[in-house]
Amino acid sequence: MDTVRTQVAIIGAGPAGMLLSHLLAAEGVESVVVETRSQEYVASRIRAGILEQSTVDLLHGCGLGERLAREGDRHRGIYLQWPGERHHLDFVDLTGRSVWVYGQTEVQKDLVEARRAGGQVIHYEVEDTALHDLETDSPAVTFTDSGGVARRVVADAVAGCDGSFGPSRGAVPDDVRRTWEKVYPYSWFGILADVAPSTDELIYAWHPDGFALHSMRSAHVSRFYLQVPNDTEADDWSDDRIWEALAARLGHGQDGWTLTPGPVTDRSVLPMRSHVSTPMRHGRLFLAGDAAHIVPPTGAKGLNLAVADVALLAPALAALVLKDDHRPADDYSDTALRRVWRCTHFSWWMTTMLHQSGDPFERELQLSQLRWVASSEAGATGLAENYAGLPIGF
Ligand code: FAD
Ligand code: DHB
Repeated sequence: MDTVRTQVAIIGAGPAGMLLSHLLAAEGVESVVVETRSQEYVASRIRAGILEQSTVDLLHGCGLGERLAREGDRHRGIYLQWPGERHHLDFVDLTGRSVWVYGQTEVQKDLVEARRAGGQVIHYEVEDTALHDLETDSPAVTFTDSGGVARRVVADAVAGCDGSFGPSRGAVPDDVRRTWEKVYPYSWFGILADVAPSTDELIYAWHPDGFALHSMRSAHVSRFYLQVPNDTEADDWSDDRIWEALAARLGHGQDGWTLTPGPVTDRSVLPMRSHVSTPMRHGRLFLAGDAAHIVPPTGAKGLNLAVADVALLAPALAALVLKDDHRPADDYSDTALRRVWRCTHFSWWMTTMLHQSGDPFERELQLSQLRWVASSEAGATGLAENYAGLPIGF
């Protein structure tokens, strides 16, 4: 077996793993990244679209903000609507913070380019990733590389950034690990279309037929989501049915607003669940991003939470491996989980406020809550603070 030594072995080259390698390099810490998928596959997955203020600040602070500043679209807030009413919540007025439309695909491209320029070692298309010796000072990751060579990376720490299906979470022993999970009785049908957005800012729409969201990726590309039943297949829906549902739920014709349809270029169904796995650290293994927690997408927290985790983890690992200072690493799990639970609550709250559950009592509560959020400064500020994002280290 081919063995190398590094300071941090990172499993997963998604946003959490790549940003961690970037932040570690800035601290003078060397890392090796391993990833099951190809570079092209990871870079082209259509996922998140909204960056909160602290994510944008962090990306600027670590030299990844140049294209974001040029091509990202700053939004002051969102529209919240239900039949007959549309209300703008202005996050800047309410909290002084804003959000940016900049796709996860773009963040990933910027990360790949920065790490390429930095000479980062990344093994793509690996198989059989396994974690070893996590309770020692020399944990290791083994895998088979794309050429069929068995490799071992021995490190001072292992970062599990391998998303919801990777092996890292399961490497925390059962008698130590505690998990919380909630599965929602509906999914999101995500649609990407080559058409200019019909709105200047995102529209979150409550509707008796189910929730709908009008988002965007650029001046020419729109992104939409529809609440659908859990067993929905993306191909069950014709393009005409998609546009009819979006028009009805988003309020085409209401107060003169129109939805412009266009060619659908991507479609996928996304199940929704909340999941938290604790602790986020076991021995020399540190979990970050979707490896430790999943939120339903309403409220756009998943990517932002992954960024917040590694913003905490990078300096903690640097202190551990460069100065033998264990304190920040010891505090990592508890500190990160405070934000994780805040975002878990916010995502659950946005989800349950906006989706149809079929319960008429809940429907009335949802409408009452929406009216309160849209009409009370206190209600609107609560949503805005959580949506635009709490400061890193909250
Ligand atoms: P991932 O991006 O999942 O990366 C983990 C990586 O680990 C993957 O590349 C995977 O291939 C790799 N891996 C897995 N197993 C192994 C293994 N055995 N060995 C090596 N590597 C492995 N979040 C937001 O903040 N805002 C949004 O607007 C938003 N919208 C979303 C819309 C959709 C449709 C979806 C699906 C998600 C959305 N999210 C959103 C969530 C966001 O995309 C995720 O939270 C984010 O990708 C988490 O990053 P990560 O690096 O932790 O995990
Ligand atoms: C997007 C995704 C979200 O989950 C959300 O709340 C807002 C926007 C998006 O993909 O554009």
